[in-house]
Amino acid sequence: MMKINEFDKIIVANWKLNGSLEFIASYFEILNSFKFNSSVCGIICPPSVYLQSCFNNMESLFLGAQDCSNHDIGSYTGEVSASMIKESNCQFCIIGHSERRQKFNETNFDIKLKSETLINQGVTPIICVGETIAEKNNRSTKDFLSKQINESLPNEYVSNSFIIAYEPIWAIGSGMTPTLDEINIIHSFIKNEINVNECKVIYGGSVKFSNAKEIMNIVDVDGVLVGGASLDPQEFAKILKS
Ligand code: PGA
Repeated sequence: MMKINEFDKIIVANWKLNGSLEFIASYFEILNSFKFNSSVCGIICPPSVYLQSCFNNMESLFLGAQDCSNHDIGSYTGEVSASMIKESNCQFCIIGHSERRQKFNETNFDIKLKSETLINQGVTPIICVGETIAEKNNRSTKDFLSKQINESLPNEYVSNSFIIAYEPIWAIGSGMTPTLDEINIIHSFIKNEINVNECKVIYGGSVKFSNAKEIMNIVDVDGVLVGGASLDPQEFAKILKS
């Protein structure tokens, strides 16, 4: 398992359903021309068929998958297991992204099982949580997050066995973000909800170079999860350096 407590910041690129062999070759040619601070844990999460190709092309960053099966083996057509992800050189795996919860009907219980199978394989889960605009407007964000966190986490865990990504659904791909104060309040709330001394909580939702630094300067923000802006290697390199 990665010792994530050794890093100051965790910066994740979520490529979603984007990329090709040609894209990967030119992406890493640009990214590899930058030198990054070793206190930053940069993680690239491509579609799973491209994990090996990214691994072969990347020099200083880590690799993550975007999802995994909650089953270890068997008749589950189309699924990829945590042990396969581990064998593909991944140290990390995003689970419970709101797109998977909303478009593929994933439940908190599914996420819990996925987090357990990943931890058993020594892969660090990046567990996504976040409220809809309706919950935000109803002022029920904290109640909603509390339930989501308590139901999605593994039964037993120790400090730094997973990362939480706080991604308000209304902020994803919209160009809108919560205020810095709001992010601060929610991140410290999440840390208080989790029964360990230390848990990394990163922020996701419309992060780009122009706002990454101010967001990462918030005390309880341990990094960022970047979607759209991570597809541009210059932009992502600037975020890794900010
Ligand atoms: P975005 O996506 O940076 O494009 O808003 C973030 C995410 O969905 O992980």
